[in-house]
Amino acid sequence: MVHKVSLVAFLLLLLLPSSPSTATAVDPPYSCGPSSLSSQALAFCNTQLPPSQRAADLVSHLTLPEKISQLGDRAPAVPRLGVPAYEWWSEGLHGLSIWGRGIRFNGSVRAVTSFPQVIHTAAAFDARLWRRVGEAVGVEARALYNVGQANGLTIWSPNVNIFRDPRWGRGQETPGEDPATASAYAAAFVAGLQGGGSPATVTEASTLQASACCKHATAYDLDYWNKVARYSYDSKVTLQDLEDTYNPPFKSCVMEGKATCIMCGYNSINGVPACASSDLLTKQVRGEWGMKGYVASDCDAVATIRDAHRYTSSPEDTVAVAIKAGTDVNCGNYTQVHAMAAVQQGKLSEKDIDKALINLFAVRIRLGHFNGDPRSNDVYGHLGAADVCSPAHKSLALEAALDGIVLLKNDAGVLPLRPWLVSSLAVIGPNADNTGALHGNYFGPACDLTTPLQAIKSYINGSHLRFLAACDSPACTMAATGTAATIACSSDHVILFMGLSQKQEQEGLDRTTLLLPGEQQSLIVAVANAASLPVILVLLTGGPVDVTFAKNNPKIGAILWAGYPGQAGGLAIAKVIFGDHNPSGRLPVTWYPEEFTKIPMTDMRMRADPAIGYPGRSYRFYQGNPVYKFGYGLSYSSFSSRLFTSFSMTNAGGVSSDTSALAGITVRSTEEDGGVSYVVGEIGIERCNELVFPAMVEVENHGPMDGKQTVLMYLQWPTANGGRPARQLIGFRSQHLKVGEKANLKFDVSPCDHFSWVSETGEKVIDRGAHFLIVGDEELEISFGLTGLS
Ligand SMILES: *[C@@H]1O[C@H](CO)[C@@H](O)[C@H](O)[C@H]1NC(C)=O
Ligand SMILES: *[C@@H]1O[C@H](CO)[C@@H](O)[C@H](O)[C@H]1NC(C)=O
Ligand SMILES: *[C@@H]1O[C@H](CO)[C@@H](O)[C@H](O)[C@H]1NC(C)=O
Repeated sequence: MVHKVSLVAFLLLLLLPSSPSTATAVDPPYSCGPSSLSSQALAFCNTQLPPSQRAADLVSHLTLPEKISQLGDRAPAVPRLGVPAYEWWSEGLHGLSIWGRGIRFNGSVRAVTSFPQVIHTAAAFDARLWRRVGEAVGVEARALYNVGQANGLTIWSPNVNIFRDPRWGRGQETPGEDPATASAYAAAFVAGLQGGGSPATVTEASTLQASACCKHATAYDLDYWNKVARYSYDSKVTLQDLEDTYNPPFKSCVMEGKATCIMCGYNSINGVPACASSDLLTKQVRGEWGMKGYVASDCDAVATIRDAHRYTSSPEDTVAVAIKAGTDVNCGNYTQVHAMAAVQQGKLSEKDIDKALINLFAVRIRLGHFNGDPRSNDVYGHLGAADVCSPAHKSLALEAALDGIVLLKNDAGVLPLRPWLVSSLAVIGPNADNTGALHGNYFGPACDLTTPLQAIKSYINGSHLRFLAACDSPACTMAATGTAATIACSSDHVILFMGLSQKQEQEGLDRTTLLLPGEQQSLIVAVANAASLPVILVLLTGGPVDVTFAKNNPKIGAILWAGYPGQAGGLAIAKVIFGDHNPSGRLPVTWYPEEFTKIPMTDMRMRADPAIGYPGRSYRFYQGNPVYKFGYGLSYSSFSSRLFTSFSMTNAGGVSSDTSALAGITVRSTEEDGGVSYVVGEIGIERCNELVFPAMVEVENHGPMDGKQTVLMYLQWPTANGGRPARQLIGFRSQHLKVGEKANLKFDVSPCDHFSWVSETGEKVIDRGAHFLIVGDEELEISFGLTGLS
């Protein structure tokens, strides 16, 4: 996104004299409302008709210039039909945002709930939480619309690109490296934001609370690295990687979440710019996945088809290729400026334009845009200023912040600290009192912001507390190491708040190193050496950092990762440090060692290539030793997990399990299993549904503290040959347990979805024979074979 523009706009807003808080709704007359006599008799106002039919009628009343005017994110009004102006571009990645142009924060509502950055909320591994966050963002969007501070309800979130490379500046915006996690996140967030209950019951006629947009299709995960820019980047991806890594979150977004928009990215995929790819947008997204909605371009991504990719030679060819491929609205005015000439030159037909407009207006109709006054909407009309920063949303922001914190190290029970036993505490580091480190990017003006330092002050008497930032910013080009060491030396306990900021990782900026910036590492070591007790290190980062030095240093007793934890992040961190919350987050990305940066960021291959020393990517394929693994995270309690199934050997579906075969099963080669595979497509959906079986995990909290246990269930194949992942996450659940409490968690295992892997030709296949379900150290062998198929 071209967010510099928005930031400038935001600064200007702050300079404006504050006006009395008068809630002015969208300017009347509302289209199709009682006072809009010109339009109420037309078919597009008839709420009994399906949205696509209403949209087609509306489009049929537009002149060609009016049609073309609607093809950019800033769509002007068509007063003679009562069509109000509309802004397609709004953002709500982890709360409504100052990025985008559809939402204003200068009326009666001046602040919105700021949830943790997505990578942090992802670490909770809790789809229900993700859905509730999406829902809260949708409620706040609708509330701002109703009070007249938004002229759009199309939110260009979530970002569900796979966090393929730890250097990616926008990895923080995503749910991490795992396609199954990202797919679950996409479905949950979209369903929450769009509203309307279970997505399974959502149809192309359902009313929308707000419209979600999954971005950036597809294989977009490089911003600016080694002079390679996203605008001209060509993602060279194999069919296998596309099918089992890059595309699943988008597919889930559409098929499970019922998203009403997909955004095409700046990049090309194997030579074809995403916004010019009819294979991607028309054949796959609309055809195979069945999206009912619209395709938006990333901002100016139609122009870059020509200007950066040199894929087309004239602006007219460019807008024609984009619209014909299936890009309905361009962010920016390039299409609005050039489409008329494209029509005159015969490169684009009015029919092509109508197709795009029907997709666009059908979404506006589902948003209730042509039903008169938005406040009279019978489902969402009641939402207003009181629904923004509501107590429920604020406590959800705290809950998300708490649940995403990951305890990476806790030697000898350094944590939690008992506040009444702390006689002196030193808080050191540039991220201790830095509100920027709570936000990450794509944020809005938050209702409240509590930094870690402020929250610690609510636990520790100020006269016992000393604070030193020690570096001017996380860049830490110079550090007050001597002073920091002196303070550490004279304090009982030391907490360091270090990590990254948007100066190291952001949109348009990828990292070149995984090490902490500047003098941070030497500062941390000096402080740890000076302190009498092992110190506590809190890392505020989006992407992973190589902190091997801290992991191995006994003077660093505890390490917490707290992402960019949102408005309540400081409080959440303090609650974890002082034992008011038992951490349960798990890393949603692999933390690689610095040597990983030797491989070019432009190598999109997930699978390792040992012949040339290419180590592979993510927990599924990386063959090196990570600093911390995907899924890693400790608790203050000790939990046990026991894995079992409850079905008999003769289960009609064709799967069998040996429930006695738990730990210590040796992995067999495919040769022993006969090397037979089934093609999932040939099994058929009905049979696939019959094959689903329950796997149970009994979890128990052995104390000493109540808390959540996060259970990740993996599938492992008998071999990792042939491009099979080393393992694949197939389910996750987070369960709160009191000390001594037990619970049985049920996971539905679908052989077609979970045992299958994608072959080099992009086909989903299931091996015959042994498969292993894995939870923690527990393994359960499941044999698979189908009767009637060989
Ligand atoms: C808020 O900002 C918008 C866009 O800059 C402006 O049109 C509007 O008048 C402002 N509203 C108030 C109440 O200041
Ligand atoms: C299109 O947008 C560009 C960049 O924002 C602006 O400079 C130009 O004036 C706009 N053109 C028209 C015709 O609106
Ligand atoms: C903080 O400690 C000082 C000195 O021990 C004491 O006088 C003061 O009452 C304490 N304040 C609070 C709020 O406990």
